[in-house]
Amino acid sequence: MPAGHILALDQGTTSTRAILFRTPDLVPVAVAQQEFAQHYPASGWVEHDAEDLWDSSLAVMREAMAKAGLGPQDVAGIGIANQRETTLVWDRRTGKAIHRAIVWQDRRTAAACAALREAGHAAAVARTTGLLIDPYFSATKVTWLLDHVPGAREAAERGELAFGTVDSFLLWRLTDGRVHATDATNAARTMLFDIRAGRWDAAMCALHRVPASMLPEVRDCATEFGTTGVLGGEIPVLGIAGDQQAATVGQACFRPGMLKSTYGTGCFALLNTGETPVASSHRLLTTIAYQLEGRRTYALEGAIFVAGAAVQWLRDGLGLIREAGESGRLAAQADPAQRCYLVPAFVGLGVPHWDAEARGAIHGLTRATGPADFARAALESVGYQTRDLLTAMTADLAGVGGAADGAGASNVLRVDGGMVASDWTMQFLADILGAPVDRPVVRETTALGAAYLAGLRAGLCPSPEEFAAAWRLDRRFTPAMEMAEREAAYAGWQRAVRRTLSGIL
Ligand code: G3P
Repeated sequence: MPAGHILALDQGTTSTRAILFRTPDLVPVAVAQQEFAQHYPASGWVEHDAEDLWDSSLAVMREAMAKAGLGPQDVAGIGIANQRETTLVWDRRTGKAIHRAIVWQDRRTAAACAALREAGHAAAVARTTGLLIDPYFSATKVTWLLDHVPGAREAAERGELAFGTVDSFLLWRLTDGRVHATDATNAARTMLFDIRAGRWDAAMCALHRVPASMLPEVRDCATEFGTTGVLGGEIPVLGIAGDQQAATVGQACFRPGMLKSTYGTGCFALLNTGETPVASSHRLLTTIAYQLEGRRTYALEGAIFVAGAAVQWLRDGLGLIREAGESGRLAAQADPAQRCYLVPAFVGLGVPHWDAEARGAIHGLTRATGPADFARAALESVGYQTRDLLTAMTADLAGVGGAADGAGASNVLRVDGGMVASDWTMQFLADILGAPVDRPVVRETTALGAAYLAGLRAGLCPSPEEFAAAWRLDRRFTPAMEMAEREAAYAGWQRAVRRTLSGIL
């Protein structure tokens, strides 16, 4: 295979990272990262400045190349992974966004979503898009922009505006407005895309009043997306996937039944279900895991909105720790006889409750409860929520007789993301799941997945089977908790959640 490097751009919710990988073994050789401003203009609203997304992307790509001492001639391709659902609308002539990006966490369209549900659209939306009607997804955010930015709807009707998720906006800027495209995984998060047919759906566009002329062209995850000259010479963009789907690829979850869970700000678990989409009976999402050579592989997805954010709360909200790495050590000092539950519904609850109005609560406080018990409850909440997700996934898969080839969900969970550095948290996860938890050597799986997609297209990376064979285990956490203790602890969590749901408070 020819030598070369792949540049992965991971545009996430709180920071933008670029990692240069050497091929064919995808060893990281340089990393650059920048945080950018979060804007909270009203309660429950979250926005990003489009120029921050672009400027930080450009800066980290340039910095990574400078650190590695590489020029454009050394980079065979770019792979992009991005925060999903976050919505941008821009002027095709100027390339300027007409409003700040509305971020996936933003709840401003909760009432619009409730109205759509009450009007009886939930079944059609689920059938076509695989999604539940929730402000999380892009469609109602586009409608909000067209209805609230003066003149936007008329300009959109005249074909002057473009819509895209973050990948699509960055691609437009990278190609100087020559390419308006996205990939199937990002399209699948808009609530406008028919995930079975693999095309934009006219009925969904009509329902959300989104003109078809605004939509990007949808392509495979590993294909030609145009070339960019912004890094000093022409480099092709060869891979795009939503960040959680990129992590699924980076974890080499290519076989039906395999699953991964990524612990960042939130936690997103994806279970590969093969070439047939599985409709959930447990309020999971049906989504596209990846699309290669026109063939779609599907996944069931569980989304938890607060995972690492609970550790940030311990640090920034409560001041109990100075840095995230201390949380496990503090939790280990908690009194094992106490059982305190934190339900971190800071922005509502995702799967399986989808309760946008729920807010966080802590249950089981006594006079003896102290900082260590808070830390333990915060870390344990991540384990309990993962079990909620995996229980729903296993039941969904069993209900349809298994994934594409009859495979049930694997009993091994592959994990990645910042929180997996905590041995204490990973051990609790294995204990409460009653199943092994595998932490890979390479924990930058999102960037790795984007790099692999681009490297595959460039002919610099091996086949998925060979890539999967090269996946390396750092450490397996095996369950050590007695079953009776595990089930009692989990039952306590379920009671705590029931008391936290908005209908009950
Ligand atoms: O669906 C939202 C998800 O893609 C965000 O991921 O890692 O940017 O928090 P992250």
